[in-house]
Amino acid sequence: MLRPPPPTAVPAPSGPDLPRHVGIIMDGNGRWARRRHLPRAAGHRAGVRAIRRVMEAFNEAGVHILTLYAFSTENWQRPRGEVSSLMRLFQDTLDTEVDELDAKGVQLRIIGDRERLSSRLRQKVEECEARTSHNRSNLLNVAINYGGRSELVEAIRELAERGADLRALDEATLSSALYTSGLPDPDLIIRTAGELRVSNFLLWQGAYAELHVTDALWPDFGSAEVAAALSDFGSRQRRFGQVVEPGGPHGVASRAV
Ligand code: FPP
Repeated sequence: MLRPPPPTAVPAPSGPDLPRHVGIIMDGNGRWARRRHLPRAAGHRAGVRAIRRVMEAFNEAGVHILTLYAFSTENWQRPRGEVSSLMRLFQDTLDTEVDELDAKGVQLRIIGDRERLSSRLRQKVEECEARTSHNRSNLLNVAINYGGRSELVEAIRELAERGADLRALDEATLSSALYTSGLPDPDLIIRTAGELRVSNFLLWQGAYAELHVTDALWPDFGSAEVAAALSDFGSRQRRFGQVVEPGGPHGVASRAV
């Protein structure tokens, strides 16, 4: 599978109760547009504007790794016109935003099966990735034609092709064959627009992620919603399958099951 350049080391979060890596399922662009009697494409354009606000808000809060779910392997089943307008939007957004992303020190990585993208879009993706590959302030993964199941199947296939002994396969080896190799797993996955589903997003990496679902539609998501998601995350007691003794240190698992 074709991969983005390796991730650079970005700063750790600026506080102990902050997630190192946040994944976002950006949903609700269509509903946002419908409520305004606008075409769905206008909702997607508003969605792009939200990305900038949200990245700034996370950066200011001290969170430096984001993964955004922009287009799933299932989204090809949308009407042809919507798929092509989304593909055009990806291309245009990369064109217009790459200078600023680069100036702000953001490493941009596209995760997902890029072989199905048009050669023009793939070339643009590669240019933007190469240009930002040494940036170290923030890391932004954008998932395009991404599916967690397909990522796992492709990773295992590739390990087999490289001659790895699959009978001895372990979690670290499989993790190292995913698009997110070298990155911490997401500690927090946010879904906008209210649906209670993971929708094939970061299935392996999100095994222990805290989930924050909000009714806000993606184009309406901004700094107040980022603050609410981080505050919700900060209030969770993360156990990773362990038991926390009553009276034990807050959030620290003291006895394994
Ligand atoms: C879900 O809303 C949103 C999408 C399928 C597309 C998201 C894409 C963007 C915000 C553009 C990102 C671009 C770049 C380059 C990062 P929906 O259409 O499923 O909304 P609905 O459920 O209300 O119909």
